[in-house]
Amino acid sequence: MEKYILSLDQGTTSSRAILFNHEGEPVHSAQKEIKQYFPKPGWVEHNANEIWGSVLSVIASVLSEANVTPIQIAGIGITNQRETTVLWDKETGDPIYHAIVWQSRQTNDICKELKKNGMEEKVRQKTGLLIDPYFSGTKVKWILDHVEGAREKVKKGEVLFGTIDTWLIWKLSGGKAHVTDYTNAARTLMFNIFDLKWDEELLDLFGANHSMMPEVKSSSEIYAETAPYHFFGQSVPIAGAAGDQQAALFGQACFTEGMAKNTYGTGCFMLMNTGEKAVHSDNGLLTTIAWGIDGKITYALEGSIFVAGSALGWLRDGLRMLKHAEDSEDYATKVQSTEGVYMVPAFVGLGTPYWDSEVRGAIFGLTRGTEKEHFIRATLESLAYQTKDVLQAMIEDSGIDITSLRTDGGAAKNNFLMQFQADLLDTVVERAKINETTALGAAYLAGLAVGFWENKKQLTKKWDLDKEFEPEMDEKERDKLYQGWQTAINATMAFK
Ligand code: G3P
Repeated sequence: MEKYILSLDQGTTSSRAILFNHEGEPVHSAQKEIKQYFPKPGWVEHNANEIWGSVLSVIASVLSEANVTPIQIAGIGITNQRETTVLWDKETGDPIYHAIVWQSRQTNDICKELKKNGMEEKVRQKTGLLIDPYFSGTKVKWILDHVEGAREKVKKGEVLFGTIDTWLIWKLSGGKAHVTDYTNAARTLMFNIFDLKWDEELLDLFGANHSMMPEVKSSSEIYAETAPYHFFGQSVPIAGAAGDQQAALFGQACFTEGMAKNTYGTGCFMLMNTGEKAVHSDNGLLTTIAWGIDGKITYALEGSIFVAGSALGWLRDGLRMLKHAEDSEDYATKVQSTEGVYMVPAFVGLGTPYWDSEVRGAIFGLTRGTEKEHFIRATLESLAYQTKDVLQAMIEDSGIDITSLRTDGGAAKNNFLMQFQADLLDTVVERAKINETTALGAAYLAGLAVGFWENKKQLTKKWDLDKEFEPEMDEKERDKLYQGWQTAINATMAFK
């Protein structure tokens, strides 16, 4: 009977289950959208129980559609939207508040206060991160500040904290395992990425304590087995976990120092493997953990762009300019250029390299001649401009000249965007054949732990190119376009 690895990819907008065979090919998948809650402008929340329900439902769908029985699952890998924070009652399993999503800006005031108190440098030295509403720590504090009786319960050890990986492993194991992996812990603002421990002082800063924190494990090991009542009577090892961007780096087989990938999902995240060295950034990049395997930590530099694919979602759902996000390619190629239109999709502030949580989106250069096509093209181009901002920071910080960039994610399927990206970066863009590299990375991590695959060398051979995009734009044109973007960004940041 053929065996598979089941990868669960719990992302910002949907939950997915994908079955991978021994060749590392995705053979079946199921997907379910999850509801987004926007209680106030700039706030984004999820219902953690709905997330759990959606994961159960995609597991059931993928197994039944693929006609695969639970005994054929050799192991489960979990990958997730990172930083999103859940606090739940240890006894009942009920979340005490909605999950606060990574994009949410509701902890802006907490961050301002921390910065005012001069905490930025200390936090950075311990966690490699900046003080920004993006990360989990201030979300924990916000929930404790706003849910009546929560602090008391925390003191009594009745509340558990988790990012989405932790929440799902806890649920799948029937409450047996309260764990996370290094990559997810590294995004909480409470974990010291150098001594690899929850940091007493930082826990204190956000009102957390050790009793509520998950045990931090490697990214590839058996954490627990599924509770049979959640997995059709079977106990299957949950054997790999990583935040989605780190999982994508792994799925892209960026195993050697200097290799980088860019994933165009809800947001856009570029990660570069920096090996055993944690590289400090002077240009607004994050220092983070790429993975921890067999007692060895690999670090990464990361550029985080908050709005990428979700800008296309906004064109589709908010402005109703598109029926499907994929139609954007057709519209964009109907015109020769944006004719000077720039779109800055700072809907939830700006991440790397600007780190401004108060700025909001803007559009520039409109004329009476601006048409829908220009607007759509400008939105697509904004993904590439933001990526260029990040790449420049990465080259400066690492001293490594990136000559090719591996890409994946929904919007990477857009050929116009990939060509424009190569042109703007003056770098070869290599789109991976398996676009589901996030889920693949989690499958690899789990597969290595249960002996489904042997080692990274074997996985490296599986990476395959779908299409290569060579830079074609001349330097003058590239510089002119990028200068326009910089002017637009500066004007956007001035408008607050
Ligand atoms: O840090 C946030 C990131 O993990 C979300 O990823 O795929 O939902 O854009 P995605």
